[in-house]
Amino acid sequence: MLKVGVLVSGGGTNLQAILDAIDSGKITNAQVTVVISNNPNAYALQRAEDHGIKALCISPKQYEDREDFHKALLNRLQEEQVDLIVLAGFLVAVPPMIVEAYPYRIINIHPSLIPSFCGVGYYGLHVHEKVLERGVRVTGATVHFVDTGTDTGPIILQKAVKVKQGDTPQILQKRVMEKAEWKILPKAINLIANGKVTVKDGKVMIEE
Ligand code: GRF
Repeated sequence: MLKVGVLVSGGGTNLQAILDAIDSGKITNAQVTVVISNNPNAYALQRAEDHGIKALCISPKQYEDREDFHKALLNRLQEEQVDLIVLAGFLVAVPPMIVEAYPYRIINIHPSLIPSFCGVGYYGLHVHEKVLERGVRVTGATVHFVDTGTDTGPIILQKAVKVKQGDTPQILQKRVMEKAEWKILPKAINLIANGKVTVKDGKVMIEE
């Protein structure tokens, strides 16, 4: 049984999609054992509690030194014996010390088709604002392994979403979440939990 730790910062709709997929059997051989947020007010923590899951706030603001925050987060993940870390709208950069402790065991959901509209500064609504500004006809979401870069790790799954006339960033974000994020993140976790994902020469191989 894969022990999953989910790191969140906001509303937790991706966390909810994971919990619903476990409850419905779309995800097998996995359980979310801890949810950690840097934001004490993240509704995602409430979603975890409502589901009977340990919900913790570990925030940089609680520590004098950023290094101490990193160590506290890593220690907690190890204490909880997490096998897979899922970044679900987590807005804090994951430090190399954690990435190196969990090689190919941290995944992230990004609300665009990487390598478009990603990297430093591309998160949340900003992504969709840039998509609309550029006038692309198709956007989507990506699940990728986390490496020490920003949105640069090997891509696991992607799903395309049409950009429609009259879309606002909010409308587009909602469509990308509903049609892409909430589908491919649970699917990626299920594939990993069932041993279907390997990485060879920096590229993800998926056994369908
Ligand atoms: C959303 O912008 C999503 O696209 C990205 O993180 C943000 C928070 O989503 N992955 P959530 O509702 O907290 O899962």
